[in-house]
Amino acid sequence: MVEKSIAEFVMNDMRPEDVSEVLSLELASYTTPWSGTLFMNEIYKPLSVAKVVRSGEKIVGYICADQVLDEGHILNVTVHPEYRRRGMAAHMVAHVIGLLSGRACKALFLEVRISNEAALRMYEKSGFGMITVRKRYYTAPDEDAVIMKLQLSL
Ligand SMILES: CC(C)(COP(=O)(O)OP(=O)(O)OC[C@H]1O[C@@H](n2cnc3c(N)ncnc32)[C@H](O)[C@@H]1OP(=O)(O)O)[C@@H](O)C(=O)NCCC(=O)NCCS
Repeated sequence: MVEKSIAEFVMNDMRPEDVSEVLSLELASYTTPWSGTLFMNEIYKPLSVAKVVRSGEKIVGYICADQVLDEGHILNVTVHPEYRRRGMAAHMVAHVIGLLSGRACKALFLEVRISNEAALRMYEKSGFGMITVRKRYYTAPDEDAVIMKLQLSL
């Protein structure tokens, strides 16, 4: 565990030159990781949000979200294993909520593996609530997805 407070981490837009470092964290974190192309798409899509968090030079977290009409979708939130439980994911999610609220998004959605207790608790703490379960949504291993929603405005 690295002893640093959230104030010592810096959040910036993800750039194409960040993708290889992001990918190594992605590969270490998921059984079905995103490809470099998927990250590149998020960097260039006009309504996407793609941010990295650094400790010094090192990328220790990232978040991707997008927007379709007045709905936002959190697509990926990942924190380096040595930097977890320091509020970084919650901080990145709060940042995206603020950004998309400012663009008149009415609701945010996301999906998460039903066994992913850490992510489920973190999203609940960030204000999301479960709306349904999508059976066998994930592969490797096959697993249900919990669909979560945060209502921003009516
Ligand atoms: C899920 C993940 C992003 C959480 O990142 P994090 O920076 O450690 O989360 P935070 O420190 O912001 O946690 C916020 C709250 O979420 C809950 N939480 C986070 N990790 C938890 C865990 N392992 N067990 C139980 N609750 C947890 C806690 O309520 C925590 O608040 P607290 O520390 O004050 O108790 C991180 O574990 C991760 O990168 N996992 C692998 C990738 C992944 O599964 N991403 C989500 C895909 S949907």
